Amino acid sequence: MSLFATTIGIDFGSQHTRIFLSNAGVIFEEKTIIAFDTHDSGNKKIFSFGNDAYQMLGRAPESISLVTPVERGIIVNQQDAIAFLNISLNSIKTFSLGKPAIVITVPTHITNIQLRTAYEVGRLVGASEVIPLQTQIAALFGSHIEGNEVHGRMIANIGAETTSVAIVSLGGMLSYTCAPLGGVDLDNALVAYIAQKHHIVIGRHTAEQIKLSYGCVVDDGSNEVISVKGIDTVTQLPKIIKLKKQEIALAYSNVLYEIIQIIGQVFRDTRAEIISDIIDYGILLSGGTSLLPGFDVLISEKIGTPAQVVDDPSRVVIRGVGKLISTGHIEAYTLAASGK
Ligand SMILES: Nc1ncnc2c1ncn2[C@@H]1O[C@H](COP(=O)(O)OP(=O)(O)OP(=O)(O)O)[C@@H](O)[C@H]1O
Ligand SMILES: [Mg+2]
Repeated sequence: MSLFATTIGIDFGSQHTRIFLSNAGVIFEEKTIIAFDTHDSGNKKIFSFGNDAYQMLGRAPESISLVTPVERGIIVNQQDAIAFLNISLNSIKTFSLGKPAIVITVPTHITNIQLRTAYEVGRLVGASEVIPLQTQIAALFGSHIEGNEVHGRMIANIGAETTSVAIVSLGGMLSYTCAPLGGVDLDNALVAYIAQKHHIVIGRHTAEQIKLSYGCVVDDGSNEVISVKGIDTVTQLPKIIKLKKQEIALAYSNVLYEIIQIIGQVFRDTRAEIISDIIDYGILLSGGTSLLPGFDVLISEKIGTPAQVVDDPSRVVIRGVGKLISTGHIEAYTLAASGK
C-alpha cells in the first residue's frame, strides 16, 4: 500500500460524520443526514445536509425527503452515501487534493457485501485507494493509548446506533463484538415509555434533547420534574405533561442493561492474565453515549472492573484514525492486515 502525501480519514458514523485530513487534523463534523428536494420527481436535488438537515427531522414538509446513508454503522444506500460524502468533501475543498487515499472506519459486524459497498463508495468519491479500519482499533489509538502495548486493554465505544467493544493486546484484537445498539435506542425507549405512561407522543428529536439535558441512569431520589410537550394519544391535541427525572432512568434501564451485557460478552474466552490487566487499567469508554451521566459508574458496578470515559469521547474514533495516518502506522492495523 502506498500512502499518498494526503490521506483522508472518515469516521462514517450513524449520527455523525467526522473527517480528518493529514496535515490539517479533524476539520469536519456534521450529522450524517441529507435532505433532498423531491418537488421535481425526475430530478432529486440536494436541499441541505449535515446539522442543517438534522434540524428538519420530524419537521420537514412532504416535498423534502430526509435520508440517513449510514444506519447501525453500515452504509445502507450507496447513492445517498456518495451524495453525502461528495457534498461533505467539497465543503472542505478536498477536490484540490487530487486522488487521495481514504481510510474509512467500519464496524466489525460488517459483511463482505457491505464491505464491498464501502470500497465502492470510497472509490466513487475519488479515492485512489480505500483502506477500511475497524472502529475499535481506531478508538483505542484515539484514547491516547499506545495500542501496541503488551498489556491487555479494553475499549467500549457506545455511539448513536452501535456499541463496539474490544480487548486488545499488542495492537491485535483478542476478543471483540459489535452490536446494533446505542443512544438512539435510549431515545426510542423514552418515546415508548412516555406514550405508555403519560399517553402523549413525543418526537425522537425531543427525546434526544431530554437525554442531553436531563439524561441519567439511576433513580437518585430527586423529585425534579420537567415539562414535556407532545400530542395526546386519545384526543390528538397538544398536551404538556410533567415527567419526573427518575422516570427517565427507568425508561432507559432495559437498553442500558443490554449495552452492559454486550460489553461483558468480550470477557468470554479471555485469558486470566488479560483479565487481570483490564481490572488494573479499567475499561475505556468512548462514543457520545458514554457521556450519559452515571453510565460509567453503572458499567463499572455491573461488570466489576473500573471504567472511565476517555477525554473528548465523541471524537475518539476520528482522533485514532488521524493518529494512525499521521504516524504512518495505519498499514499494520487495517482490515486487510487483520486477515478478515
Ligand atoms: N451528553 C450526552 N449524554 C448522553 N448522550 C449523548 C451525549 N452527547 C451525545 N450523546 C449521544 O451520543 C450519540 C452520538 O454519539 P456518536 O457521535 O459517538 O455516534 P456515531 O459515531 O454517529 O454513531 P455510531 O458510532 O453508533 O455509528 C447520540 O445518540 C447522542 O444523543
Ligand atoms: Mg461512531
